Amino acid sequence: MNIVNISSMPEHDIKVSVILKLMSMPGEFVSGEAMSIGIGVTRTSVWKHVQELRNEGCRIEAVPRKGYRLLEEPDLLLPSILVRKLRTRTIGRQISYQDSAGSTQAVAAQLAGKGEPHGTLVLAEEQGKGRGRLGRTFFSPRGGLWFSLLLRPNFEPQKALVLPLLAGVAVGEAIQALGELPLMLKWPNDVLIDGKKVAGILGEMIAEVDALKYVILGIGINVNIPEFPPELDGIATSLSLRLGRRVSRSSLLCSVLERFEHHYDILLARGGGPVLEAWRALPNILGCQVAADTPEGTWQGKAVDIDDQGALLLDTGNEVKRVMAGDVRLEVGSGK
Ligand code: BTN
Repeated sequence: MNIVNISSMPEHDIKVSVILKLMSMPGEFVSGEAMSIGIGVTRTSVWKHVQELRNEGCRIEAVPRKGYRLLEEPDLLLPSILVRKLRTRTIGRQISYQDSAGSTQAVAAQLAGKGEPHGTLVLAEEQGKGRGRLGRTFFSPRGGLWFSLLLRPNFEPQKALVLPLLAGVAVGEAIQALGELPLMLKWPNDVLIDGKKVAGILGEMIAEVDALKYVILGIGINVNIPEFPPELDGIATSLSLRLGRRVSRSSLLCSVLERFEHHYDILLARGGGPVLEAWRALPNILGCQVAADTPEGTWQGKAVDIDDQGALLLDTGNEVKRVMAGDVRLEVGSGK
C-alpha cells in the first residue's frame, strides 16, 4: 500500500520518477543517461521500468542514441500524478493506491481505524471482491474507476443519509461534462445511461446512537470497460462503449472529487437542501413509473420526489409511500 501525503510526496519510486520525467518533457526525447543521472539509478534500471510502464499501457517510444519519448499522456492513477492534477483542499489530499485490492471499502475501513484523516482516497486498478449495495458483488476489472472516500463529517447520523446522493450528483455532473449522454440518476445511487448502469455508489457508515464516527463512500464507474460478463448483458454499460472512445480516468476522477468537495462544502454551510436541489436538477427518475423492492415489500407507483432525508416518495395511487431503503426498477415504457 502506498500512502502519499501531498505536502511530503516521496520521489523514491523509480517507475513513478521515470514517468514523471517523461511527462515533464511532452513530445521530447529524454536520454537514458539523463534519466539515470536525474533519478539516481542505472540505465538498465531505467530501461526495466520503461518496459514495466509499457506493459501497463503507457505509450513510450525508445530510439537508440536518442532515448525515450512519451507518445501520449498516460492514463495512470498513480498518486504522484493525481496530486498534480487534483484541485481540492481536503478530498483526495491523501491517497492510498493499490494495483489490486479485494475491496477499496475494506481498505478504507482499515485506514479509518488507524485514524487516517477526512478526505482520504482509496483507489485500486481492479477489485477481486468489489462490494455492491444489498450484499451484492460488484464487477470491477481493470479499466474502471473504483475508489472509496473516507469522510469524517461533524454532524448527526441522520444528516449523513444525503451523502450518497451528493456522490451521485458529483458523478452525474462529471459524466455529463464528458458530452451529450442520456444520463439518469436512479434513486438511491445508480447512474444510468440508456437505462443501463454506468456507475454505482455504496455508502457505509459507522456511528454511535447520536454520533457519527465516519462514513465510507464507495464509488464505482465503468469507464474503459470493453465488455461485460453475460449476467450483466443489457444491465451495465461503460463510458467507452457509449462514447466510442477511451475516457481519461484520472481527469474524470479529479472532476468527480472536485465536484464532490464543492457540494460537500455547501452541505456543511447550508445543510442538505442544496444537495437535493442539485440531484433534482440532473436528469433523474422522478416522474417515472417504478417498482420499489423494500424491506416491507414491493410497491409500484410514480416516483414523485425525494424528501429532506433523501427518501424516495412514491405515489401508488392510493397514498404516497416513503421509501427509505431498497431497490427501484423502472417499469417498462415508463417515462416523463
Ligand atoms: C452498487 O451499485 O451496488 C454500489 C457499487 C459500489 C462499488 C464501489 S467500487 C469502489 C468501492 N469498493 C467496493 O467494493 N465497492 C465500492
